Amino acid sequence: MLKGKTVLLGVTGSIAAYKIAGLASMLVKQGAKVHVLMTENATNFINPITFESLTGNKCLVDTFDRNFEFSVEHVALAKQADVVMVAPASANVIGKIAHGIADDMLTTTIMACRCRKIIAPAMNTNMYENPILQDNLEICRGYGMEVIDPACGYLACGDIGAGKMPEPEVLYQYILREAGYPKDLAGKKILVTAGPTREAMDPVRYITNHSTGKMGYAIARVAAYRGAQVTLVSGPVDMAPPLFADVVAVESARQMFEAVTSRSREQDIIIKAAAVADYRPASVGTEKIKKKDSDLSIALERTDDILGWLGSHRREGQFLCGFSMETQNMLENSRAKLKKKHIDMIVANNLKVEGAGFGTDTNLVTIITEKMEKELPMMSKEEVADSLLSEICG
Ligand code: CTP
Repeated sequence: MLKGKTVLLGVTGSIAAYKIAGLASMLVKQGAKVHVLMTENATNFINPITFESLTGNKCLVDTFDRNFEFSVEHVALAKQADVVMVAPASANVIGKIAHGIADDMLTTTIMACRCRKIIAPAMNTNMYENPILQDNLEICRGYGMEVIDPACGYLACGDIGAGKMPEPEVLYQYILREAGYPKDLAGKKILVTAGPTREAMDPVRYITNHSTGKMGYAIARVAAYRGAQVTLVSGPVDMAPPLFADVVAVESARQMFEAVTSRSREQDIIIKAAAVADYRPASVGTEKIKKKDSDLSIALERTDDILGWLGSHRREGQFLCGFSMETQNMLENSRAKLKKKHIDMIVANNLKVEGAGFGTDTNLVTIITEKMEKELPMMSKEEVADSLLSEICG
């Protein structure tokens, strides 16, 4: 998604500067052209040669370096840039950016850039909380720059508090959102469900399935990258919540039903990737079920079919997409679900095919609507999410 995009990374003097090597490497692996600009102070924390080796481009520090390719290098670079990220951004450089001071390669280039600028402050908590710094960040926001909240944690100075630079993976997602995708879902509200549900038997045990939530989380991430306002209703999974979505955590099918149906009316698109339990224990003991010598049978009752409910209560113009996981007669069974639930699209996959289904990072799916059937090649779940959203956008 970042293939051919030009990313400028501005690195300032903070202990977190070394982590930007990881970010530069991630971006290069995704095909981005990466140029690193450093302040003089930053070179005390990481050697420019590290960035030059990773990006294949000269690392720019001094505006008056005589050894350059372009005649006015900061302007030439600024013109090529699709996005600029200043990370870690020191209080000093944030102050300069906020007030238009351009006295080195980094700040001069930023002044000359028309593309979006993203700032990731990293400093001691007291500096971060200083009203002067906060005012400067507000000024930057006012000029349309994006400011990433620092993480809380143990800081290099020994304090614990806000001021830590977010991890490179987080910074990478901000760049991806800015430069990696068209914003063709801007203005759309999308609700995605993901993960399994847990149906309690007693305070200790529950019935669930093998869903890891990876497919639904990928859809939520990509929909947000493409500009949608995303709500993710998630069953219990072992993943960090996606950055740019409102996450509603649920456990049982009943809770998922309530979370989805109470929000469904305002949604333009609903994608139900969750593996919702079809049955739950008919009664839930308040005390732990103790074992006996004899076998045990548990009576199960049907859960509500959330997608079925959405199909029969849909708002005019709303798009409904379900998922169908099968081990046999995949297409036939999936087409039947499309009809029975009165939905627009169903994404079918066969659990028995290698690389598809639960827990994998790839998927092999067939997209089915009333009018068409399209088998996608094996691809990453993010690519499946992207193709699926493109189909929905028509
Ligand atoms: N679904 C739902 N509510 C349920 C069960 C499933 O909304 N109680 C949704 C899933 O999120 C998915 C689709 O319905 O989008 C799956 O359809 P379904 O017929 O329930 O599939 P299976 O559970 O696989 O059905 P079966 O066991 O009959 O194959």
